[in-house]
Amino acid sequence: MAYERIRLASLKDKVMPAEQAALLIKNGMVVGSSGFTKAGDSKAVLPAFAARAKRENLKITLMTGASLGHDTDGKLAEAGALSKRMPFQVDRTLRNKINAGEVLFIDQHLSESAELLHSKNLPPVDIAVIEVAFIDRDGSIVPTTSVGNSVTFAALAKQVILEINTAVSEDVYGIHDIYQAEDYPHRNVIPIVAPWNKIGRKTIPLDPSKVVGIVFTDMLDSPADIAVADSKTTAIAKHILNFFENEVLLGHLTDRLLPIQAGIGKVANAVLMGFKDSNFYDLTMFSEVLQDSTFDLIDAGKLSFASASSVTVSADCYQRVFGDLQKYREKFVLRPQNISNTPGLIRRLGIIAINTAIEFDLYGNVNSTHISGSNIMNGIGGSGDFARNAYLSIFVTQAASKENAISHVLPMVSHVDHTEHDVDILVTDVGLADLRGLAPRERAQKIIDNCVHPDYKEQLQSYFSRACERGGHTPHLLEEAFSWHLRLAEAGTMKK
Ligand code: COA
Repeated sequence: MAYERIRLASLKDKVMPAEQAALLIKNGMVVGSSGFTKAGDSKAVLPAFAARAKRENLKITLMTGASLGHDTDGKLAEAGALSKRMPFQVDRTLRNKINAGEVLFIDQHLSESAELLHSKNLPPVDIAVIEVAFIDRDGSIVPTTSVGNSVTFAALAKQVILEINTAVSEDVYGIHDIYQAEDYPHRNVIPIVAPWNKIGRKTIPLDPSKVVGIVFTDMLDSPADIAVADSKTTAIAKHILNFFENEVLLGHLTDRLLPIQAGIGKVANAVLMGFKDSNFYDLTMFSEVLQDSTFDLIDAGKLSFASASSVTVSADCYQRVFGDLQKYREKFVLRPQNISNTPGLIRRLGIIAINTAIEFDLYGNVNSTHISGSNIMNGIGGSGDFARNAYLSIFVTQAASKENAISHVLPMVSHVDHTEHDVDILVTDVGLADLRGLAPRERAQKIIDNCVHPDYKEQLQSYFSRACERGGHTPHLLEEAFSWHLRLAEAGTMKK
């Protein structure tokens, strides 16, 4: 049965156990692997390589679409198997190794890795490991629950190992839109003018002579952790929905809004779920990850189409969607991440981008990646691709956390991912600040009035007022700008 998934007969003799395939990955190699926010990752070969690296002294550079599931990043990091990792991760063990300086990490816009590989500004990929549903008669491959960077890895890697996942139905054929733009200077217009446009092929082209191993697996993706909405996320969602309603009243948007991008996590989920009981309808998404809320909104008749690079959902939602693909297949499409996250398309389609910040400052600079300036949390992911180019760039975070010992609104962010120029709307559970059309001093006052936790309002107002007395276009007291972070480190609280 499983062998029928290899429709090109000449490849059938490439089947081998995962441990044997893992031997094809040599010390020092650059490995490109499928996997995007846990979806469609390598479930056998990379874990087998991690087990091997525990016994032997092996190190690789690993590039993926985004994060991997099944603790694979953690297992690789634990085994000391990673010298360099890019472009995104969310694993606690790997994060600790990165912050300890033991693994080098390139935190990269998700649209950019493929570009850098094509322009040869990254080292060439020695071997790719790609999860597929089946191999077609011409040797081209059908990905599973994500596309990520697999098209680029398949095109550029010197050798390819395929993992055929028999737990994924072959019915996924047709849910992917495989398109690659030409290399520079021959790049043409990417002909997408609406999220539902399909412009490419159903399979990823692959030269069969590059296939050095085929492994069978039958394991589902790690399920998404569905964090239950709480009072803070519900408040943030309410502020955003009220804002949208007002934009409609003002005639800036219609009840259909514009295509939505939503980051992963409980706030994004809460905002999207808020649409269920709203007057908005015929909504669309042009995003990078589709979560449970996307399919809930489709079921509720609120969302008519969603475009992304992966489906990362809970176990229940997985069964619902992939167990009844006929119902959903015309409702969503999965694209390569250098298409789902292309800045030009994001600008053309007029995306409403909703992403999460770790902290933001008086003027609207956003830190999405580093705790207290130095320690990486996850990475920038696609937030920068979307934020800079969106019609509306919204960032959300809680106003304060850890029993209010930490304020997420600060005099100056300790690391900048999104500059004040890329940020339109800031939202906390306290309220929303619409910064469009405001100069820095106006932005600061709006943020203090609308977003700061009451415990920190006076403190931030005092900082701003004293900074204004000193003068400047974006007034600051440099000797005090990071004092809140320093106080947290020394006294366990940012409060004066
Ligand atoms: N010092 C110490 N800890 C701090 C801190 C500071 N100055 N500022 C924030 N924190 C802590 C918070 O207390 C919280 O800790 P906890 O997890 O123990 O409660 C943690 O940092 C942040 O958690 P939270 O506010 O709950 O954020 P989140 O889980 O919603 O994740 C991001 C927020 C920014 C880390 C996450 O959205 C992300 O990785 N974004 C970047 C990628 C992205 O945006 N992709 C877009 C498309 S998918």
